[in-house]
Order: sequence, then C-alpha cells, then structure tokens
Amino acid sequence: MIYPKIRLSENIYWVGTNDRKTRLFENYWPIPLGIAYNSYLILDDQITLMDTVSMGTMDSFLEKLKEILNGRAINYLIINHMEPDHSGAVKTIINEFPQVTIVGNNRTFPMLEGYYGIKKNLMEVKENAVLHTGQHQFHFYLTPMVHWPETMMTYESTEKILFSADAFGSYGTLDGGIFDDELNLSFYEDEMRRYYSNIVGKYGLQVQKALAKLESLDLRMIASTHGPIWRLHIPKVVEFYRNWSTYKTEQGVVIAFGSMYGNTEKMADIIARAIAEEDIRNVRIYDVSKTHSSYIISDIWKYRGVILGSCAYNGGIFTPMRDLLMQLEHIMPRNHFLSIFGSMSWGGGGVSTLKKFAENIKWELIGEAIEVKHSPSDKDIVSLIELGKQMARRLKENDSSFSENNKPEMI
Ligand code: FEO
Repeated sequence: MIYPKIRLSENIYWVGTNDRKTRLFENYWPIPLGIAYNSYLILDDQITLMDTVSMGTMDSFLEKLKEILNGRAINYLIINHMEPDHSGAVKTIINEFPQVTIVGNNRTFPMLEGYYGIKKNLMEVKENAVLHTGQHQFHFYLTPMVHWPETMMTYESTEKILFSADAFGSYGTLDGGIFDDELNLSFYEDEMRRYYSNIVGKYGLQVQKALAKLESLDLRMIASTHGPIWRLHIPKVVEFYRNWSTYKTEQGVVIAFGSMYGNTEKMADIIARAIAEEDIRNVRIYDVSKTHSSYIISDIWKYRGVILGSCAYNGGIFTPMRDLLMQLEHIMPRNHFLSIFGSMSWGGGGVSTLKKFAENIKWELIGEAIEVKHSPSDKDIVSLIELGKQMARRLKENDSSFSENNKPEMI
C-alpha cells in the first residue's frame, strides 16, 4: 500500500497513527473523537525513529515506516516516554530492525526491561547529551513527571524541532490536518486543555520546570506525541502551558451536581441563575451521573469558581460525585473558590462528605454549606440565591485585584 508521505521537513516524516477504536484513553478517559499517537522518522546518514505508537495501531505504523525507509534500517530509536501508548511498538521495531540502538535515560531502561524484557543495545543519555546522526543533532532534556518519571524531550537543533513527548499534546485524531495551520484550532484548544488537566495536570510544578529548561531554545516546531504539530501557534501553546501549570483561571463557575430525583439539580439551577444575574457569563452546570469527570475537570481548569452539590446516598455521598471528588483530590488543582450544597431525606451524608473534601482540597470556601431536607423550601431558595451571589461577588472582586496585579498566581 502506498501511503501519502507527510513531511515536517525534507528529511523528517510524521509516521504516527490515528486511533478511532479505543473508547477510553488509559482505559478511563473518554475519547469520543479518538487520539493520535505521533511518531517521527528522521532520515540521515543514520536513521532515527522518535517514539513509536500504541500496539493496536501497529500495522499501519509499520507500513508507513517501510514505505519511507525503502529497504534501509533504523539505526536509533529514541524513547522520550515509556507509557505504552508510545512504547507499544518497541518490541516490533526491534524484531524488524535487530541492530537498532535504543536511546533513553537511566529511568527508561528499567521500564523497558520490566514491560518488554528488552535489555540489549541500549544507549543511556544524560541531561544536555547530544547525538549526531549526520546533518541532525539531537539534544536531550530530562523532564521527569511530564508525564512519567523517565519522560524526556529531544530537541533537534539543525531543524529547530522539539519532540516534546506528551507535553503540548491533545486528545483528538488528526483528521487530514497534521499541522496547527491546517486545522480548526478551536476544537484542539478544548481537547488540549482536557488532555492536560486529565493527564499532566497533577504535575504543574514539573511542567513549570520543563518550560524553564526549554525557554532558551529557538523553536520552529513542537512535535508532541499527541495532537497537532505546532508551527504557527508556538507562543500560544507555550502560554497555555504556562497558564495551566500555574493554575491561572478565567472568571466563570462550574456547578457539578449529583441528584437522584431532581431536588439537588433544582438547587443547582437556582444558584446558577443568581450568578448569572450578577453578570457572570460563564456558568456551566454538569450532572455527574451523565458527564464524565474528564470534562468537568477540564472546565474546572478553565474557571475559578467551583460549586459542588450532592444528595445523600446510603448514608454517604452520591457515588458519581464521590468519583469526581476522588479525581480532584488526586489531581489537586489549585486557586479555586468553592461553595457546597446538597440534599438529604433522613440521615444525610452528601454535604458532610463535601465538607471533608473542602478541608482536604483547601480551596477558598465561599458562603455556608447549604443542606436541604427533601426539597428546597422558600427559605432554602433565599439561601441558595445568596450563595450564588456571594460566589459571583467574590469572582468579580478577585478579577479587579487580579487586573491590578496583572500576573498569574504562582505555586
Ligand atoms: Fe501519551 Fe503519558 O503517554
């Protein structure tokens, strides 16, 4: 089969694959619009492959590779990241090209042996090491926890391309367009933030360190392992990462509720109306039974206000809300305002669990927690309206002090 060859430059090719079959990335995060596993082939005196792809898309990957190689062998396989969505084809590459040298760092190789039993033909690189393959020079930067401890980035200095592993990646397949100037960016902006918040968001400090390391590089392209190759909007995506990793948010409120029979949902609607009446334009309400936490977390990364509400369930909190709370406590986004509410029929358990969450997450608590018995009374409705107004006022007050300082809050 003859694949159209996709070039980043005369001798650098995209050999990645699109995965439209997998429903859940990491078997957890929904990817209704798929995901791309980007891999790159660099032709030179010595041929280099940059990362591989997930096992499920190996056939088309190998076909593309062989078409471009035209009988030549791969000399180096650089592994920037060992997570199996990128290392899934390593064993196959070694079977096809037994002389290939695997390039990684001292944290790569124990994983390579552990996952795949590979322990030969290894070249260990350290921070700032350089590999020459002819015209191309690969510089290595260790960027642990962006996203795993072994993760590194590779900068090719002749063509000024940063191979950034998961960083600057996005959910979503590459449907024809490969480069950021070939596709509609609004889709990828949202999917990039969802990917960041779900996958990398826990490691904000490490992302900041990686950004500091890369600051002095002259970048013509950023080639991540997922999503578009950035060449037009490099300053913009670097700014996204700077903002997301420092938890800079916009004025707006995410209201997430868990409700069995609609009473807690009713409370969410009352609060949302009060916020809107205070001229806050970005208010999103999510039913945690319907919307996966992936999307709610992504919006929490965008908006400063968070309001969580739950009914009681078997003496505790409603199960889908418990899942969201667990994810948030795990990822630990910062710099939010939080309000809580809920309902109960006899013994409670929803609001008391939300109060414990509030203690753990340490976001600024706005207003008193409101717990309604059965369904909201007129008195409850007044309290809910006041809670919404308090959140809106705090957001506006914060925005005026933010514009005075005009800088993101650093962790
Ligand atoms: Fe795309 Fe952390 O793997």
